[in-house]
Amino acid sequence: MASKMHVSTSKARWLILLAAAAFAQPALADIEFRHALDDSVLDLAPIKGEEITDAVKAFRKDGVNPYSGSADALAAGKTLYEENCQACHLEDGRGGMGPSLVDNVYVNSRANTDVGIFEIIHSGASGAMRSFSERGVTQDQILKIIAYIHSLKK
Ligand code: HEC
Repeated sequence: MASKMHVSTSKARWLILLAAAAFAQPALADIEFRHALDDSVLDLAPIKGEEITDAVKAFRKDGVNPYSGSADALAAGKTLYEENCQACHLEDGRGGMGPSLVDNVYVNSRANTDVGIFEIIHSGASGAMRSFSERGVTQDQILKIIAYIHSLKK
């Protein structure tokens, strides 16, 4: 009787240990976003009034844009693109004073991934390509703009 008790107690201990180990798994770490020019780690703290949305949180983990292909996001992205980007990259994204965003030539080597494009829109690159975070564009809006840019390639 005493030994049976002992067995079941140690089994229970094992289960508790296993459960604790499962919960203790570290959450998937955020990607480190870096500046296109000097490689410094970007400060992604929210700007005034900005809400860090679930889409942004998910993107920071896996670099996959949750808005790609979403009709609502594309509509919002189009408006934002027209307001903020079109003057230099033109309506169809083929480029004017800023480079084409719809070809496979990248001025910045990082610009071939959504993480790199996010970094450049958020914190700027060289010359006229300034930080849009500093101009009040939120990270959620940046994801919508990126989704829209990709839709221009088709
Ligand atoms: C005042 C002009 C100007 C505006 C407005 C502007 N850009 Fe740019 N953009 C540039 C220039 C110039 C470059 C090239 C920067 C460099 O050489 O590092 C650039 C580079 C880029 C790149 C990297 C391209 C590559 O091949 O490396 C992306 C992506 C980009 N811009 C997206 C945007 C988006 C999105 C917006 C709007 C939110 C925007 N730009 C607004 C001028 C502009």
